[in-house]
Amino acid sequence: MLILGIESSCDETGLALYDTEQGLLSHALHSQIDMHAEYGGVVPELASRDHIRRALPLTRHVLAQAGKTLQDLDGIAYTQGPGLSGALLVGTSIAEALAFSLNLPTIGVHHLEGHLLAPLLEANPPDFPFVALLVSGGHTQLMRVSAIGDYELLGDTLDDAAGEAFDKTAKLLGLSYPGGPAISRIASTGTAGAYQLPRPMLNSGDLNFSFSGLKTAVLTLVNQQGDQLNEQIKADIAYEFQEAVTEVLTKKCMAALRNTGLDQLIVSGGVGANARLRERLNSATKRRHCHVHYPRLEFCTDNGAMIAFAGAMRMQHASTSDHSFTVRPRWDLAELQAP
Ligand code: KG4
Ligand code: ZN
Repeated sequence: MLILGIESSCDETGLALYDTEQGLLSHALHSQIDMHAEYGGVVPELASRDHIRRALPLTRHVLAQAGKTLQDLDGIAYTQGPGLSGALLVGTSIAEALAFSLNLPTIGVHHLEGHLLAPLLEANPPDFPFVALLVSGGHTQLMRVSAIGDYELLGDTLDDAAGEAFDKTAKLLGLSYPGGPAISRIASTGTAGAYQLPRPMLNSGDLNFSFSGLKTAVLTLVNQQGDQLNEQIKADIAYEFQEAVTEVLTKKCMAALRNTGLDQLIVSGGVGANARLRERLNSATKRRHCHVHYPRLEFCTDNGAMIAFAGAMRMQHASTSDHSFTVRPRWDLAELQAP
């Protein structure tokens, strides 16, 4: 079964072709980061318009790359939510219009299910069940994943998501958007121990997170510096901020493995690209004889491959072909059911 996947929930247009026998055949991405950078964040209307410009050329590109034509497709998967409604509408309406003209079935994919399953696109994927840490710009969740569609929430953030904390902290330090890569870059020249930031909820006894206090603590540090705030101080604060977030994430992942009795962890979402987080998780899981799996770096952030893959997994069981559609800008992952 050959599935075209379309991702357009936020600021990346991602297209991919996944074949249930041969695996991922091709993928392509257009990131709008440069377009939104001057505004310091995603401008929804600009995002929607750019998805319109990119989706069809990228579709032609992934088909050509794989030596396929539209006639070879068996179905189309698209991100139905959660995300920006206008941006979701672009991918959704293109997917349904293409499918209508080609008489193909479609499936609306949950964006977070895409992230969650992205590590399964790699070699030696883990078997179910496993613990998943989903760390993106909008989510910080720990889940027990027993099968596709069988997701038990173990812990969640009470306020900001980890990626959001990176983005807001970067803004406070005058760094570029998106904040995660920018913080990680300058943290590499930071000095250990120059500043002390809290480790929120490290010993809360549950698997929940809270990151908004950390951002406030950074704000206080920045204000204390006044005109003295220079590149080295910024790097020192970024270093300590990254230490605080990655320590909490790592400790809670290990607690989730311990509580569930499982020995496999997968990490997905944009913050999963963070090198310090990977370093900490690699050594913590090794110490406990557990295994950790990540998507390749380019599939940590938004992409079409994860949508084509999640869509293909579900389409083997169910799909629709009436081509009526609706987007779901707010959509709780817990509402999903096994296909
Ligand atoms: O998964 P994603 O592309 O989009 C959402 O669905 O939210 O994640 C984007 C988030 C942003 O907050 C970005 O700052 C963060 O992931 N991010 C990182 C890194 N790369 C991206 N955070 C920390 N370190 C990174 N290297
Ligand atoms: Zn995402």
